[in-house]
Amino acid sequence: MLVNLKHVLDLAEKGNFCIPAFNVYNMESVMGVIKAAEETKAPIIMQVYPRLMKEETGYYLSPIILAAAKKASVPICFHLDHGPSELETTRSIRYGATGIMLDGSTLPFEENIALTKCVVETCEYVDVQVEGELGHVGTTADKNMDEFTTPEDAKRFVEETGVACLAVAVGTAHGKYSKPPKLDIERIEAIRTATNNTALVLHGGSGVPDEEIKKAVKAGIRKMNFATDICYTFLDSCHEELHNPNRAVAIDNFMKNPIQAVKEFCISRIKLVGADGKA
Ligand code: 13P
Ligand code: ZN
Repeated sequence: MLVNLKHVLDLAEKGNFCIPAFNVYNMESVMGVIKAAEETKAPIIMQVYPRLMKEETGYYLSPIILAAAKKASVPICFHLDHGPSELETTRSIRYGATGIMLDGSTLPFEENIALTKCVVETCEYVDVQVEGELGHVGTTADKNMDEFTTPEDAKRFVEETGVACLAVAVGTAHGKYSKPPKLDIERIEAIRTATNNTALVLHGGSGVPDEEIKKAVKAGIRKMNFATDICYTFLDSCHEELHNPNRAVAIDNFMKNPIQAVKEFCISRIKLVGADGKA
């Protein structure tokens, strides 16, 4: 069933677990993710990068996500990931998104608060909740990753914007890590306490060691994003198929193994963050 961001975050808070958020790019990745959620009876988030919402992809992909979510027997939130401005956030709501991220993390603090608050207020009219970002989660190619979120700023940000959850910079980055990251677990705990137990979000989940992920969930991470690993899983499987002498030519049959590979990856993350059986 299609639900909003608050619905899945409330489940996570009550059950003391984390909702995995999987980035989807095409119909086949949606199929892999939804099969994983159904098979493990897990509430999940399917999210889309803003560039897709700006291009024609979003126009075609959104109805596919909505169809999958509405048919599913488990709660599914359709979320915009890293929305940079009101253009993408408004368009995503028009496309049916039930959760919105407004990422103002590269703006000065006061401007981040102002823009995020404005989007929170608009989204309220349509019962959609907002994820904000404070501190900046960069990419693994960045030279320094030192823009960590402070508990004091997080407290003010949450109070003034009214976000439903907050993405924090605590040692992760987007992309493939050259060496496994170590998370600042104490910082996660301190931000949770300072923000009156606001749901916290970990970006850059691909390649984070399982033990670090478990500790982060225990410390209060309620949404965890996986994108790069979905891409590699899908493309590696396509590559393998191409080199299979008995490969199918009909595209739907060719795609069966890549869909299965995405499903298996998602099942492993769903179990790791404790979302299985929580629908
Ligand atoms: P990865 O691509 O590193 O998994 O990051 C995902 C993410 O944070 C999406 O917003
Ligand atoms: Zn991210």
